[in-house]
Amino acid sequence: MKFFIDTASLEQIREAHSLGVLDGVTTNPSLMAKEGISGTDRIYKHYVDICGSVDGDVSAEVIATDLKGIISEGEHLASLHPNIVVKVPMIRDGVKAIKHFTDKGIRTNCTLVFSAGQALLAAKAGATYVSPFIGRLDDVSTDGLALIEQIRLIYDNYGLETQVLAASIRHPMHIVQCAELGADVATCPLNAILALFEHPLTAIGLEKFLADHRKASAAAAK
Ligand code: E4P
Repeated sequence: MKFFIDTASLEQIREAHSLGVLDGVTTNPSLMAKEGISGTDRIYKHYVDICGSVDGDVSAEVIATDLKGIISEGEHLASLHPNIVVKVPMIRDGVKAIKHFTDKGIRTNCTLVFSAGQALLAAKAGATYVSPFIGRLDDVSTDGLALIEQIRLIYDNYGLETQVLAASIRHPMHIVQCAELGADVATCPLNAILALFEHPLTAIGLEKFLADHRKASAAAAK
């Protein structure tokens, strides 16, 4: 399973990249706003900076919601860097635009997906990635992971090549469960990735190994 980081923070992207396990980045307008990035030129420059900080796909989301606007914005975003994947919302004009981008060889990530039917439409339009938001489903007492399972089954039934990109991940167990269910990618906040490193028995075990080594070295020096 590929690991993407879900942030527009260059600092966090660089930290995740330094771990050696990062495969890409997803952003959205809220994440860009959180970093104080606004204005078309600054936003485009920020995407180029992100592409320079990671060796992998970078999802850049369109703001337009009409077909003409999505196409023009998406084509510009795609021209910024070869690693840009145009992120398009799951709306009618979004799906039409995904089909247009697919025909032109521009890669896409269909975002704000909350049902298997939406995921089927995204795949039929040729989306490179589909982003089911599992945390937001869990937030409204629905089973986000069940959606990953359902989409995996449907895509496998028909050999659909769209990659399942589990999004809106809240904690490390979401990552592990998405891996069990066969999601192709998980896009995660940095703290969820870092939490995967942690186990108390690892910390206790390492402490004991080092203490034993210190004792043996001290005994040998006598
Ligand atoms: C996906 O690409 C989105 O950016 C993201 O995962 C949304 O997550 P949230 O529900 O934590 O905002």
